[in-house]
Amino acid sequence: MTARSFLFLLGSSRADGNTETLARLAAEQLPAGAEQRWLDLRDLPLPDYEDRRHSDGHPAPDGHATTLLEATLAATDVVIASPLYWYAVSTPTKRYLDHWTGWLETPGTDFQRRMAGKTLWGVTALADEDPAVAEPLAGTLRNSARYLGMRWGGVLLGNGSKPGDVLSDTGATARAKDFFS
Ligand SMILES: Cc1cc2nc3c(=O)[nH]c(=O)nc-3n(C[C@H](O)[C@H](O)[C@H](O)COP(=O)(O)O)c2cc1C
Repeated sequence: MTARSFLFLLGSSRADGNTETLARLAAEQLPAGAEQRWLDLRDLPLPDYEDRRHSDGHPAPDGHATTLLEATLAATDVVIASPLYWYAVSTPTKRYLDHWTGWLETPGTDFQRRMAGKTLWGVTALADEDPAVAEPLAGTLRNSARYLGMRWGGVLLGNGSKPGDVLSDTGATARAKDFFS
């Protein structure tokens, strides 16, 4: 069996938030042999994405984009851990996803073919009691996985407003236990 390598991309605008707490709870259940890499998008800010598909093409990624591209390609499983912001993924998370469009054109990366073998997962925290309001976020990730031919692992939802709240969401903590199984 291929060794699994999970890339956790933290998309909150604060440290130690509910989304990260929930993602770390779920990650505790990963088998010992599975690699984990955690990257906080606040530490790796990307420039705003510029659409150059139909002009002079995208420049080769550099700086934090190189780090994120290489980490993405190295993973078998990409976990987008973004809080729900205005019913969608956070801005740093969306910017990361937008850069995928540039990476699809990056010579020598074979981004599309290599993404197709991976699984995409989502983890999110939201303050609303109704999990249905997270559907735009889930749809973004689910449809992005489908576009790239990735497997869709699903989204783990937890409720909370201030950091730590999600630990009181007993449904979420229970779901975290077998999310990655
Ligand atoms: C900019 C912003 C937008 C938010 N939008 C929503 C929203 O649309 N729906 C919702 O239920 N909660 C919303 N919230 C609440 C957060 O989802 C909630 O506090 C969550 O626990 C934050 O995740 P974190 O602790 O991982 O940062 C928003 C919070 C912020 C800061």
